[in-house]
Formats: sequence, structure tokens, C-alpha cells
Amino acid sequence: MIENRFQNFTERYAQGDMPWDSGITPPEIRDILAERPPGAALDLGCGTGTVMRDLLLSGWRADGVDFVQRAIDLAGDKLASFPPNSYRLVCGDVTRLGRLRGLRPPYDLIIDIGCGHSIDKADNAAYARGIAERLRPGGVFMLYASHPRPDSSVGWTPKQVERLFGSLLELHWEQRGDDVAIGAPASWYNWRKLLKPTRNEQ
Ligand SMILES: C[S@@+](CC[C@H](N)C(=O)[O-])C[C@H]1O[C@@H](n2cnc3c(N)ncnc32)[C@H](O)[C@@H]1O
Repeated sequence: MIENRFQNFTERYAQGDMPWDSGITPPEIRDILAERPPGAALDLGCGTGTVMRDLLLSGWRADGVDFVQRAIDLAGDKLASFPPNSYRLVCGDVTRLGRLRGLRPPYDLIIDIGCGHSIDKADNAAYARGIAERLRPGGVFMLYASHPRPDSSVGWTPKQVERLFGSLLELHWEQRGDDVAIGAPASWYNWRKLLKPTRNEQ
């Protein structure tokens, strides 16, 4: 199944069919950058690097992962003027973070805008664990996921998101709205990693 998704995204990048690639960092992420001191960030499914560019401009160190080489190349062009050590671009699967070379955990901020909600159900648990393990205590995980809709295999209900991350992280807020680009409801989630480990992690 991952091959289908990989193929689909690869073809879309090759054809320039990326309606998500607005070139704008969402206000929800800008708010986080305004409210927290710069640290280390990881963008999962980083696409062409728009959010990474704004992280770097705000003084953050930014690592990004995407499984489409064309996306990584476009991100590389966008970030070329920043100091080489301030960012890392890694081509690979976000559900197998442990296998990827070049990432620099732990992170103060992990971001997923429209990536996780399209991964295979069988990989969901590994994906959530990979995030929680790489987040520094007190760190934030910002997730943007569309809700499921009849004409698409993509999407997570807020209940599914709660089930996936609820035993690993603490939900700080959720904000529901309509994604005008896809004409469907979607939610932002702000998850925090507790400063002290939960009893399950001890
Ligand atoms: C809807 S796009 C969003 C891109 C970017 N976050 C943005 O907001 O512009 C989803 C991105 O996730 C990437 N992606 C999807 N599944 C992935 C996976 N399993 N591993 C790595 N990247 C993945 C796709 O290649 C694509 O670039």
C-alpha cells in the first residue's frame, strides 16, 4: 500500500500537481514560532520546505523528511542560502524514522501538516511512537489532519487521532475548521510531551 501512496505523491510532484504547496506557513505554526524560543524542529512530510524556511528565518534549527526525492530537491533549492548545519533534508519514510540517517533528535517542535493522515493504518502506531520518542519533554507536536470523507482514502477522525496519540502525549488544544483547498473538514491539534514521564513510560 505504501508503494501506491508513494507512487501517487511521486507522480503528483513530477506533474507539478501540488495544491497543498501554497508557499505560505499556516498561522497556527506562526503562532508557535512567536510564542516559543527557537529550538530544534522536525517537519514530517516537509514537501518543498516552506515551513522549514520560516523556522530557519525565526532562528530554529530545522530537519525535514519527505519520501519524494523531487520534494526534497525543491526544498533544497528553497533553503540553499541558509547555513548548511542549520537544516537537514532527509528522503525517507516518516513511519520508519529510526531507519533514517541524518535526523538530530530530540526536537522541541515536531510538525505534520497533511502527511500522517495519508499513511497506512498498519503504520499508524509506529508513526505515533516515532514522534513521541523524538520529542523533548515539554516539546510540542503540531498536527494538521483532514477528517475522512467518502471520496478519499485519506483522513483521521479526531477520535482516531486521540486514540493514536492520547497514551503518548497530552492534547493541549484541537481546532476544527474547513479546509478550503480540499473542501472538507480538518483539524489542527497541539500535543505536548509531558515534562515528567507517564506511568506507562517509566
Ligand atoms: C499534502 S502534502 C503536504 C506537504 C507539506 N507538509 C505542506 O504543507 O506543504 C504531504 C507530504 O507528505 C509526504 N508524505 C506522505 N507520506 C509520507 C511518508 N510515509 N513518508 C514521508 N513523506 C510522506 C508527501 O510526499 C507530501 O510531500
